[in-house]
Amino acid sequence: MQIDSIKLINFRNYSELDLNFDADKILLTGKNAQGKTNLLEAICFLSSLKTIKAKQDSELIKWGQDFAHIKGHFTKNQTETTLEVTINPPKKKLLKVNEIKKNKSSEYLSNIFSVCFSTSDLALLRGNPDDRRSWLDEAVSSLYPAHADRISKYNKIRTQKNNLLKTLAGNINADKTLLDVWNEQLAITGSNIILLRLNFLKELLKYAKLKHSYISVKETLSIFYESSIIDTVDVEDVSEYTSLKIAEIFHEKLEEKKAEEIIRAQSVIGPHRDDISFFIDNADAKKFASQGQQRTIVLALKLAETDLIKAKTGYNAILLLDDVLAELDDIRQTYLLNGIEEKHQTIITSVDTLHFDKRYLENVKIYKIIQNENGADLILA
Ligand SMILES: Nc1ncnc2c1ncn2[C@@H]1O[C@H](COP(=O)(O)OP(=O)(O)OP(=O)(O)O)[C@@H](O)[C@H]1O
Ligand SMILES: [Mg+2]
Repeated sequence: MQIDSIKLINFRNYSELDLNFDADKILLTGKNAQGKTNLLEAICFLSSLKTIKAKQDSELIKWGQDFAHIKGHFTKNQTETTLEVTINPPKKKLLKVNEIKKNKSSEYLSNIFSVCFSTSDLALLRGNPDDRRSWLDEAVSSLYPAHADRISKYNKIRTQKNNLLKTLAGNINADKTLLDVWNEQLAITGSNIILLRLNFLKELLKYAKLKHSYISVKETLSIFYESSIIDTVDVEDVSEYTSLKIAEIFHEKLEEKKAEEIIRAQSVIGPHRDDISFFIDNADAKKFASQGQQRTIVLALKLAETDLIKAKTGYNAILLLDDVLAELDDIRQTYLLNGIEEKHQTIITSVDTLHFDKRYLENVKIYKIIQNENGADLILA
């Protein structure tokens, strides 16, 4: 799978860009604040609808303009796919695949697979549980779209339950039948969310362990799912769990916590409170890993995501790596670049080429990005 060309209008600091990539390995170089990450974000957004820095799609529109347009041609299995996104608030963003409008993002997203790494992904270790849950649920949903629907169903039930808990908090003798109904539904939906997260992490870890020991040369990665329902589980050992078993435990815990939930007027247990921990050779990476070790874990997970996409769909995802060599020593930099398999089209941003292994630079198409008075532009370096 590869991106052949991209066209941008009013995207971040690009007024207009029309670019043909026609290469498997691409390096986007340039001084700070020229538009390297912005171009990578455009490709990331077009292929996955995920942003690198933006909290809202409207931030992607060039300042002073009222719309942004991105269009790209991709090749997959020798056939061409065209993706197109127009952001024009307050209208809903317009999505097109092969010139046909798609109303649901799930119909748009099942076409092209990319995996994007940027510094913001380091929140997986440096951020809070919310960051880790979002990463996990997005990664699961990109392969199993039903997961996203299940999460939104779970959150809707939880909101209704929380509203009920607020009314019960001030009235301890009120009828609690409806609370049992919401709890029953949360246990069923929530158990399926937990089970899919566990199975996904187990599969991902299989690949991530290999990537991680290769880049770090010697270290061993483990992942634990820290659950408010089934306690802490080593994701390599999840075979005993079925959705029925998790639902039963969930149900029992909700009964135990009923009084506390009414007093606190909130849902205190469930997959919305779960977390993940990463261990390197038995030390908790959130607490003890160095910057380089943390970055290595996140990169191993990202490369493992491409392996998982390959295993599930047969496609080689496009790899988009922003400033990827930062914080890594020369050995890890070399192993990382060697660990990226040739079959993935790889687009990397970097201030210069200094840290790249000579062998890596042999077949790379290098662009230089320069911001001029009309916006950013690219030249072949
Ligand atoms: N919506 C926008 N409209 C116009 N300019 C923007 C917009 N969003 C960001 N920019 C500008 O784009 C410029 C380039 O940002 P970008 O993150 O791509 O830089 P970079 O080349 O990756 O630099 P670095 O090497 O520091 O990472 C920044 O100066 C930023 O202010
Ligand atoms: Mg950048």
